[in-house]
Amino acid sequence: QAQPALQGRSVVVTAGGTREPLDPVRYLGNRSSGKQGIALAESAAAAGAQVHLIAGIMDVEAPEHVANITVERIETAEQLQAAVGRRAPEADLLIMAAAVADFRPTSYAAQKIKKTEDGENPVITLERNPDILAETVQNRRSAGTGPGVVVGFAAETGSAEADPLQLAQAKLLRKGCDLLVLNQVGETLVFGQDETEIHILTSPTLAESSAPVTTLRGTKHQAAEAIISAAAAYL
Ligand code: C5P
Repeated sequence: QAQPALQGRSVVVTAGGTREPLDPVRYLGNRSSGKQGIALAESAAAAGAQVHLIAGIMDVEAPEHVANITVERIETAEQLQAAVGRRAPEADLLIMAAAVADFRPTSYAAQKIKKTEDGENPVITLERNPDILAETVQNRRSAGTGPGVVVGFAAETGSAEADPLQLAQAKLLRKGCDLLVLNQVGETLVFGQDETEIHILTSPTLAESSAPVTTLRGTKHQAAEAIISAAAAYL
């Protein structure tokens, strides 16, 4: 019998969305459900890996008591950065499925922001969060160690100038990851749904094939299996 694809491998998966606090009762968040990340953690465990799931805010339960999966909860991008920083160097495979807020409020109000009598509206200013994926790839390059394979995600709607696939190709090069999974998103597409359509793009430094794009439409579990087997091929 053939060995499972990830037998003896250590896999880190990030899943769900981050939540950036504004004041004690409010935050900036996003519509990530966590379903794709959980499916990836489960597929990796089923393929023989020891999985560490770094879970942000999710609509669904994290697989807390599943064999070969440990779960760590985070809320903010900074907490995610710290958790990935601790875990990624020892991982064979890192899959960054989390929807990380690109921006966070510049300051946190220790008291709830109030309506004022003079009718002035509050102004919320934002600053950039660290790009955890790009940073992890850079650290791997400079340290010469780190995850053997790094998988990033891109949720793209397309723009006037470029279609989603072109945007994803550019993102793959910009972030420097080995594989990039493109989800085409819109109001009713992908977020929270059970079905998905993905394109798996492979870094030109890895792929020998002239057609390094795999397209798949199906459940998030089927997508997870395709992503895991694509990644395992480069370990
Ligand atoms: O730039 P964009 O948000 O589209 O990139 C998506 C990919 O980068 C995902 O894999 C996500 O987990 C990761 N990311 C990150 N840190 C950020 C923003 C995104 O690691 N601040």
